This record gives sequence, structure tokens and C-alpha cells, in this order.
Amino acid sequence: MQSLYLSSLFTFEQPFLIILTLLVSCVLLVLLFFVQQWGHQSNRRSQLPPGSMGWPYIGETLKLYTEHPNTFFFTRKKRYGDVFKSHILGCPCVMISSPEAAKNVLVNQAHLFKPTYPPSKEKMIGPQALFFHQGDYHFKLKKLIQSSFSPSVIRGSVSSIEEIVLNFLPNWETNTRICTLQEMKKYAFEVAMISAFGNNPEPEMEGIKHLYRILEEGYNSMPIDFPGTPFNKAMKARKLLNGSLSRLIEKRRGNRKLHNDGGLLGVLLRAQEQKLDNLSDSQISDNIIGVIFAAHDTTATALTWLLKYLLDNPHVLQAVTREQEGIQCKLAGENRGLTWDDTRQMFVTTRVIQETLRTASILSFTFREAVEDVEFEGYIIPKGWKVLPLFRNIHHSSDFFPQPEKFDPSRFKVPPRPHTYMPFGNGLHSCPGSELAKLEMLIFLHHFTTTYRWKVIGEEDGIEYGPFPVPKGGLPIQVRPRNKA
Ligand code: HEM
Repeated sequence: MQSLYLSSLFTFEQPFLIILTLLVSCVLLVLLFFVQQWGHQSNRRSQLPPGSMGWPYIGETLKLYTEHPNTFFFTRKKRYGDVFKSHILGCPCVMISSPEAAKNVLVNQAHLFKPTYPPSKEKMIGPQALFFHQGDYHFKLKKLIQSSFSPSVIRGSVSSIEEIVLNFLPNWETNTRICTLQEMKKYAFEVAMISAFGNNPEPEMEGIKHLYRILEEGYNSMPIDFPGTPFNKAMKARKLLNGSLSRLIEKRRGNRKLHNDGGLLGVLLRAQEQKLDNLSDSQISDNIIGVIFAAHDTTATALTWLLKYLLDNPHVLQAVTREQEGIQCKLAGENRGLTWDDTRQMFVTTRVIQETLRTASILSFTFREAVEDVEFEGYIIPKGWKVLPLFRNIHHSSDFFPQPEKFDPSRFKVPPRPHTYMPFGNGLHSCPGSELAKLEMLIFLHHFTTTYRWKVIGEEDGIEYGPFPVPKGGLPIQVRPRNKA
């Protein structure tokens, strides 16, 4: 009976016991997995660089955008060393402030750190623009873009750039208040347009400029895509820009003379025609917009800082003016405008530009993302974390630039140590427009310093972000001809 009972019990209970055993085993396995993971995570976490992750979600973003950039980076570097973690713009990140470590991210181990941008920015500029890519596609575009901005090509643009300066400078005299940044944006935009499309006036250009301005207004807005928001307007303008660029491409393709016209568009169309790189029209459009974008605010910001530093350092302004007057005399004697070779003789002015780019560090840092868990300088950078080489920190380190807070162009009489001076980045993604940017500044300074004097309006001093660090209020100034100043 008992056995029957047992057997019956067995018969009825056996599946239950099996299921129970399986369940317990599963729970144990899952627990074991989590314990292991936790152990692994905490192991990994203990190998993370030192640093503070700030508040939940917002991390240290507010501090980064409200403190002076030097204070933000330097207090952390002092506390934690050259490699430290933080949390900004919703992402965990590792900040890097030694030239060697920055070189590892940007050059030696560049394949482990891909460029990364918010998706809204990618959509606006165009996802096929070269900044967002690595590998073959990036390589072929970079080669084409670099060829379009090489010294041998841009030397032919000196007189067109000079013409732009001479056209807009007289308007400054008649205005009682100039917002330097806004005016410099207009200048840099015009130069970017001729670099992108060549210098032949085409009726489509005004429409393209108008749409680009709407796009730009939405670029730094919140990515809220509701009718009427700046982001929504920008995205609509971006679509219309695609249409305008497609029509322009078609027109140039059908007209051999226009086709061979200069500008980056000409270079890309010729590469497409020769079937060298299998470029599609939309790849061409995204890269044209991308280059205008990269060329424009950066250069305008650098020009704004130039005027600020020249005002703050009258002896430097005097030295630049003297050098430019020498060149002006020569041009008057030979009855001609500036040439590329003249700009190669502007040694003092070139050093002032170099020092401006160091001091202002327009791009305080750049973003990369670890494509896998990367062992780096004794730490682990987990896959997906952002990595920020801090150009500003390196440019303001007394180890490489003695008395870094002093504006001293003469320091560039001796070339800086390799990989310590990176206003235009380093490695595969370094700036292809560096020579054009410097040329724009030289041509501007030639005419501005020889013809005008300027003073700041208002008491405001300080820095604001637009999104690059710029003098407060975009440096409002009043401009007078030198003989009346
Ligand atoms: C003072 C002005 C400028 C500064 C400070 C500047 C700075 C930089 C820096 C630091 C980078 C590297 C970003 C990174 O590694 O993530 C870069 C990339 C780039 N810049 Fe400039 N730039 C300036 C002007 C220009 C101009 C005039 C052009 C026009 C051709 C240009 C086109 C580009 C492009 C296309 C890239 C992306 C390169 C790539 O991803 O391979 N920039 N710039």
C-alpha cells in the first residue's frame, strides 16, 4: 500500500520534481551568470580611469558649458591626471589631456575610436559627409577634398578672397556697432561658398545661400521635430537644399564649361565622371554641405578672437601693422593686389594667427567612440564610451607652452613639440581646410590693420559659447579709418 502510495506519489509527483529541479537549476544558473557579470563589471569598473560622473543623466554637462573651459578641464586634470572619466551630454566619456594619449586615440589606434556625432547633426549635415565615416569611403573623399584645398589650388583664390574683404569692409565704417562674430561669419561663408562652388556667379547661388542660413539657424537648436520649431525648419531647408544641389549638379553635368569650373563641386563631379570613386549625387551634396559647415563658424570664431587679442595686445597690433604696411608699400609700387607669395612673407602675422589658434583653441576637444573595450594607458575604456582628446588642455599646458596664459606669438619662432599643437586636429580626420582658414585670416588682417582701428563697445568681458567659445556678445566693436581714429 505504502509502496503503491509511494509509487502513485512517484507517478504523480515525478514531473513536478523534475520541473522543480530544472527551475532551481535555472535560477541558480541565472544567479551565477549575474554574479559573474557583476564581478566582471566591477572588475572592469575598477579599471576605469578616475573621475566623477556628476549628477544622474546630466552628469557634468552644465559645469562644462557654464565654467570657463580652462577651469573645467584643468581642475579635473589636476585632481585625476591625464586620463579621467566624466559624463557629458548624456554619455559616459573619458577625457584625455596628454599629447601622447591624444595621439594614440587620433593616430596610432584610430581604428579603435570612431568619430561620433549626435544623430540629429548627422541628419542635418547629411549622413554621407566624410566626418561621420572611417575606412575606404572616408579615405577616398578625404583625398578629393584635400586636393581641392591644397596650397597649389587655393593660391588661385587669393584675389577672389581679397575682393570679398574689400567689398564688405567699407560697410563696417558706416555702422556704429559691429558684431564681429556675425560679420566674420558673413565673410567666412562667402569664402566657403566660392571654395565649394567656384567663383562664377550662377543664379542658383542666392537660393542655396538662403536655405543654408535656415539650416544653420536650426543646427544648434533642440532636435524637436514639430512644425515651426527651428529644427523642423532646418530639416525642411535641408531637403530643399538637396533638390537645389541636384539641379545644380545636373546643370553642370550638361554644360562642359560649367562642369570644369573650380570649387570642390567641380573636383567631385570630375571624380564622378571618371568613375574613379563611384560617387553618387547625394554623396556629393552631403560633402558640399559638410565642408561649408566645417569651414564657416570655425574660421569666423578664429577671426573674432584675432581682433580681440590684437586689441588686448597693442604692441602685437603694432608689429602686425608694420609688417602689413611693408607689403602694402610693395603692392602700391608694383600697382597690383595681393598674391599667394605675398602671404608667404607675412611671418609676424602668421605667428599671431598661430598663437590665436593656440590661445582660443576653437575646438576645445573632439569626440570619438570606443568601437570595443579598449585597454588604454592601464585602464579599460568600455565599448560605446566617448573619448575626448582635450586640445585646449594640451595647448594651455606649461609643459609645452611656457606661461600658457600669456599671448606671445614669438613662441612660434620655434616650432612646437610634435603632437602638442593641434588647432586643426591630428591623424586621419585632421582638418583639410587649415591652409584656406589661415589664408582668409592673412588677407583679412592685411586690409584691416592697414586701414582701420577698432574699439570694443560696452564693458562686457568674458566668454560665451556659440557653440565654440567666443568673446562675450560676439565682440561688439566700433570701427574707424586709421587716419580718423
Ligand atoms: C580656423 C578654422 C578651422 C579650425 C579651427 C578647424 C578645426 C578642425 C579640426 C580640429 C578638425 C578635426 C576634427 C576631429 O578630429 O574630429 C577639423 C576637421 C575638418 N575641417 Fe576644419 N577647421 C577650420 C577650418 C576649416 C575650413 C576652412 C574647412 C574647409 C575646407 C574645414 C573643413 C574640415 C573638414 C571637411 C573636416 C573633417 C575632416 C575629416 O573628418 O576627415 N575646416 N577642422
